[in-house]
Amino acid sequence: MGSAVSKILSRPEGFEDLGKEEICRLLLSEGADKELLFSCADRIREHHVGNEVHLRGIIEFSNHCIKNCFYCGLRRDNDAAERYRMTADEIADAAVAGAQAGLKTIVLQSGEDPFFTADMLARLIARLKDEHDVAITMSVGDRTREEYALMRDAGADRYLLKHETADPEAFSRLRPGTTLDGRIRHLVWLKELGFQVGSGCMIGLPGQTADTLADDILLLKRLDVEMAGFGPFIPHGDTPLASCTGGDVDMTLKTLAVARIMLPFTHFPATTALGTIDPEGRQRALKCGANVVMPNITPVRYKKLYEIYPNKICINEEGSIQCLPCITGIIRQSGRSVATDHGHSRKPVHGKARPQG
Ligand code: 5AD
Ligand code: SF4
Ligand code: FES
Repeated sequence: MGSAVSKILSRPEGFEDLGKEEICRLLLSEGADKELLFSCADRIREHHVGNEVHLRGIIEFSNHCIKNCFYCGLRRDNDAAERYRMTADEIADAAVAGAQAGLKTIVLQSGEDPFFTADMLARLIARLKDEHDVAITMSVGDRTREEYALMRDAGADRYLLKHETADPEAFSRLRPGTTLDGRIRHLVWLKELGFQVGSGCMIGLPGQTADTLADDILLLKRLDVEMAGFGPFIPHGDTPLASCTGGDVDMTLKTLAVARIMLPFTHFPATTALGTIDPEGRQRALKCGANVVMPNITPVRYKKLYEIYPNKICINEEGSIQCLPCITGIIRQSGRSVATDHGHSRKPVHGKARPQG
């Protein structure tokens, strides 16, 4: 007799409508069952999105933040953080270096920094889209619907806004002054505006259980996101969660694997946070459903200061010059290839897979 997990994983109808109980069983799998889950996710990844891995070059252009999330080193009340803002020209230069090195997606990420008005961001987006053949992903936190629309009209293709945790009580406790409902409303707006939407959550936040993690995956399924990132929570010494235990590699990989089998066409990154707690973390994620890596192409003098969590990898490497060949090597060693297209969503549109490009 096969195990409960092997029974779930041999469902002839597939996995897109797995229920909470089945998801929890998969998340709690160990040993041979866990390996079965990983190989199932790997197979589904290959079948739906192929062997190519998409690179998204990320520029962390400001570490100022008006929010006060308990888990994050950039939180407003962290006086120990040395703050910086890159100028529009510095951001454009970093993007050019990335584009010239072959990157087809540039991610512009910052803390929630109102210094950068939507108008300023729109001008920057239009400039980059005009000068380079790249997709632009914005990751600048909560804005008004009108501000999102300005960025979209300026040519931004995608928006990353992690839901962080689908537990409404934990969400409001860990992100003072905000609600899960509010975040979901923003994600729906972004979809309505035509962005390809990325979301995701942290693994191992205090109070998290397999049950709440199942809710995280079900929320991503309900939102039908184009991308989802899972990173282990890594406690930062200058935050209220300094003495908490962080997330672990295995639970992060299991969450990724279950999400892959339930959202087969979605893009999933092998996250930097996973590479931080395990030197083989990104390689392992690539074998459990991931098909994206996000090299950090922020200039070295700034990337050290973007300390969301401690001991982040790659902070001494000049991204376009050092991380890119390193990541390309990791991808090839994993038996995969680097995608040369823009890596837009491959989710079916009107029943057909989107054309590549
Ligand atoms: N450990 C891991 N990830 C974190 N993030 C914020 N703080 C931490 C931490 N301590 C993640 C959140 C956020 C992204 C910018 O970084 O998911 O969305
Ligand atoms: Fe600011 Fe984002 Fe950090 Fe929260 S997680 S404090 S919004 S940078
Ligand atoms: Fe940055 Fe390997 S990816 S050094």
